Amino acid sequence: MTTTSAGWDEAERLSVAELRERQLDRLQWTLRHAYENVPAYRRKFDEAGVRPEDCRTLDDLAKFPFTTKQDLRDNYPFGMFAVPREQVSRIHASSGTTGKPTVVGYTEADVSMWADVVARSIRAAGGRPGDLVHVAYGYGLFTGGLGAHYGAERLGCTVVPASGGMTARQVRLINDFQPAVIMVTPSYLLTLLDEFERQGLDPRGTSLRVGIFGAEPWTEEMRREIEERMGIDAVDIYGLSEVIGPGVAQECVETKDGLHIWEDHFYPEVIDPIEGHVLPEGERGELVFTSLTKEAFPIIRYRTRDLTRLLPGTARPAFRRMEKVTGRSDDMIILRGVNVFPTQIEELLLPVDGLSPHFQLVLSTADRMDHMTVRVEAEPGASADVRRSAAAELVARVKDSVGVSVTVDVTDPDTLERSLGKMRRVIDERPATVLEHGG
Ligand code: DLL
Repeated sequence: MTTTSAGWDEAERLSVAELRERQLDRLQWTLRHAYENVPAYRRKFDEAGVRPEDCRTLDDLAKFPFTTKQDLRDNYPFGMFAVPREQVSRIHASSGTTGKPTVVGYTEADVSMWADVVARSIRAAGGRPGDLVHVAYGYGLFTGGLGAHYGAERLGCTVVPASGGMTARQVRLINDFQPAVIMVTPSYLLTLLDEFERQGLDPRGTSLRVGIFGAEPWTEEMRREIEERMGIDAVDIYGLSEVIGPGVAQECVETKDGLHIWEDHFYPEVIDPIEGHVLPEGERGELVFTSLTKEAFPIIRYRTRDLTRLLPGTARPAFRRMEKVTGRSDDMIILRGVNVFPTQIEELLLPVDGLSPHFQLVLSTADRMDHMTVRVEAEPGASADVRRSAAAELVARVKDSVGVSVTVDVTDPDTLERSLGKMRRVIDERPATVLEHGG
């Protein structure tokens, strides 16, 4: 694909200086808007001894307090809205497995801005007006389905709102309607791929050209696997409900080098997750976002718990990139003192012959020691010998690269839970631990 700026938004052509100026204006507006209209923000700013006027430069944002998921829960359901409820045209919520869901709201203008950033994302991914887009993110309170849908419409595409589930039908729709683009979680795509093979169809033979995958972490190894098995370009889309939904950041198909953050609407910082201070560009830490244009639900310094680092822009020079998110601080497993993310295991198991990409991590306790079992499905047709050596190889790879001993349990094909949306990677069977998994 040739790189051309034809069809870019006006904001994608800004210089860094012009972008910073726009960000500062919008940030000052957002701080005032939040302070004047959301009692919870007013209280937090007052307690921290800061006023919106104290923000004279973008660096001054660091003086303002963080917002956490707990703040949203404390103000459940509509307490963080900055406009009267009657002006809110859309509600979304993230389920969360414990406690109250977090509720977010959008005015008509917010929904329109969201469509703009998702349209920009699909275009950066290689989608074009006139393309047929198959949306297999779930529709409903989850932001994935409707967010992708409005963006694809805004770009001028034909949208198939397939939503998640009914896997055999999805495969039929893809064969019959001939989409160019699919938007889906990477784990559900794997479920779809298996279904293609089950129906005796070659996934490389579809009309699909581009896959836009997000809502959960996935690795470079997974990109290679998907691109090879499907013959498409696989690119990453990032977002979260509290900030808007999908379309906060998008990987460009021509570089596939991390995700450009649409900084004219979402201002990023990376902080030290323990101390809370802002880290310089290039250092890894927790991603924090401040919305710059949202009316119904302005969000100030929201701690995402996602771990990444900021890098300079490439394919869209003014917009900084974030490195692929390799995990959330709450997905981190601490195994006998060693930190392990599910993505590290994904990376290690995909190249092993005889293993499928379907896996789960099961945590248990034996003799008061924590233990992890990697439960992974064998590739269909793998013999008992192949399975045995695959298990041994994975044990060795994990020991070598992560430094911990794990058990590998190679199961029959089609025995692990299949993802219809976000995959639950970690099953914690240890007594008396509370782990929360978002989504
Ligand atoms: O997952 C929004 C979304 C929908 C993004 C569809 C992309 C595509 P939430 O349900 O609020 O919103 O979950 C947000 O999911 O904080 C990350 O931990 C994770 N996440 C989202 N995108 C990615 C990604 C949507 N590309 C949480 N890579 C975020 C890694 C991701 N993790």
